[in-house]
Amino acid sequence: MRFASLFGLLAVLLAPATPVLAQDTTEDSALARGKVVYDVWCVICHGENDHASGGGTAALEFLYQGALPAKLEDRTDMTAALITELVRRGRFGMPNFRLTEISEQELADMIAYLLRNNPNVGAGAGSGD
Ligand code: HEC
Repeated sequence: MRFASLFGLLAVLLAPATPVLAQDTTEDSALARGKVVYDVWCVICHGENDHASGGGTAALEFLYQGALPAKLEDRTDMTAALITELVRRGRFGMPNFRLTEISEQELADMIAYLLRNNPNVGAGAGSGD
């Protein structure tokens, strides 16, 4: 009986801490999962600007002429809307990606990863606008 009430007390004491821990872990793992999605589908064109690249970095370097970083991972100005538009519809040399290739959850994780350094975006990047 004593043990039972002790456990009850522990459960009450520990309960408030659990959601906070879970939230931190979720945020970190969303970024980690987002990077995996990016590495699988995007880096082949948006990685280093060399001859092995599929041309995304080269195209953006030409488009922005140094005004913005050519590598998407170095950008701090992109929005969730821009990334969603490009991923779902494609543009010129960039193919679109279907839900069977990149799910909505994977897209959300990848957006969080790509917006991680944006100055105006806090926790939960990409979930809103
Ligand atoms: C086959 C090569 C290729 C792949 C794979 C690819 N892209 Fe692209 N991407 C391009 C090219 C080329 C452009 C430039 C299009 C243009 O000329 O406007 C581009 C442009 C973009 C832009 C627009 C940036 C801007 O400032 O206008 C975003 C965002 C983007 N890609 C995200 C992604 C993401 C996220 C993935 C992975 C899901 C991806 N791309 C996969 C080739 C690719």
